[in-house]
Amino acid sequence: MKLASIQSRREIAAALQQTRQYTLNLFTRVDESLFFQQAHSDFSPIGWHFGHIAFIEAYWILENLVACSPNILKYQLLFAADGLPKHERQNLPSKATIANYLQDVRNQTLNYLATAPIEKQERLWQWLIQHESQHGETISLILQLHQQHLNCANNFTPLNNSHHPGNNTVSQASTGNSRANWLPKKGQMVRVPAGAFIMGSNEPFALDNERPAHRRSLDTYWIDRYPVTCGEYQKFIAAGGYHESKYWSEAGWRWLQQNLVSHPLYWQNNNNLEDMPVCGVSYYEAEAYANFVGKRLPTEAEWEKAALGASSNCNHGWLVGHTTPVTAYDNSSQYGCQDMLGNVWEWTSSWFAGYPQFQYYPYRGYSEAYFDRQHRVLRGGSWATHGTVLRASLRNWYHPEVRQIFAGFRCAMNEN
Ligand code: AVJ
Ligand code: FE
Repeated sequence: MKLASIQSRREIAAALQQTRQYTLNLFTRVDESLFFQQAHSDFSPIGWHFGHIAFIEAYWILENLVACSPNILKYQLLFAADGLPKHERQNLPSKATIANYLQDVRNQTLNYLATAPIEKQERLWQWLIQHESQHGETISLILQLHQQHLNCANNFTPLNNSHHPGNNTVSQASTGNSRANWLPKKGQMVRVPAGAFIMGSNEPFALDNERPAHRRSLDTYWIDRYPVTCGEYQKFIAAGGYHESKYWSEAGWRWLQQNLVSHPLYWQNNNNLEDMPVCGVSYYEAEAYANFVGKRLPTEAEWEKAALGASSNCNHGWLVGHTTPVTAYDNSSQYGCQDMLGNVWEWTSSWFAGYPQFQYYPYRGYSEAYFDRQHRVLRGGSWATHGTVLRASLRNWYHPEVRQIFAGFRCAMNEN
């Protein structure tokens, strides 16, 4: 479902229900054994996210608006974002108890909604619904991490490493070649002529970091029609891209030396997957690939302008359950870009920062705490992203080294 202005209680109730259906579908996918386990130190156990979804609803609706019994906040220490550190979030109530908590809070919320002064509350309801959707994406990526670990344990088909030249053994031939055969091709790029556009949104559903809508002028630039595919990225790997410092930024190279990765996290060396978008790369890998092909990453303004008019007929919300070939949907933006929405998030070169006259909502820690020049913006949503947070103006942000998210990228170039 796509969010529009919500005029009635019935529309709020429907949007709450649709997002909850997405959440509960995820809930049934999670084995009790994985529910409490941390898949990675950057992420809480899945069970925590379900409890947190319920707690946030209890806090912002029941406690804040209804002033109902403080018992509803009994899990505050456990489920508040600023409560326990992530590695101490494993001692959770049972799956059944958390399911009951979700339902109990929701019943009281719907009860309140029946007579709530919704004209004054539209932003809060829209925020709450999107908050739940966003945690659903995080649950999805943690599920995938667990899956990845299980696959490795049960002899996951090993990657074919024959294409990876050993460290420091990249032959002249292979680097020379790759560069010559792989000069930037504008054929698969679209030209976005110089001019202004309206960046961000003032719609009731717009989150604090999307506001206020404002004019942005950009010079002419070129941007890839499609996200970078696994087939294209394979050429970077084969050319020794992971062993050549010249493609990497200083920070990227430092990261690579500390992590010694040699392919994206969700990489499968399989010719049938060539047209799939790259998924599971850090910002640094995206940046290195762009350098390799003589391009650069788009700024988030360039990304958003290129995405204007993109249709939401795309791979999102677990409709498919994994990435799809970048040509699978026709969802062209007005400039001819495809797959701007859904499939994979796309790294941009922009640091996450507030737009001019930013005002936090509903609390400083939601966005503003991350305006620290430590987080890069991603755009567009993934195959897991729920429709309520799927739009050209939506901003996501992560540390540049994070590759556990469903992130790929596309490249851009200046006109000249
Ligand atoms: C926008 C996905 C980075 O999960 O950290 C959820 C969204 N903020 N609860 C996150 C969010 C507070 C946020 N991301
Ligand atoms: Fe949250």
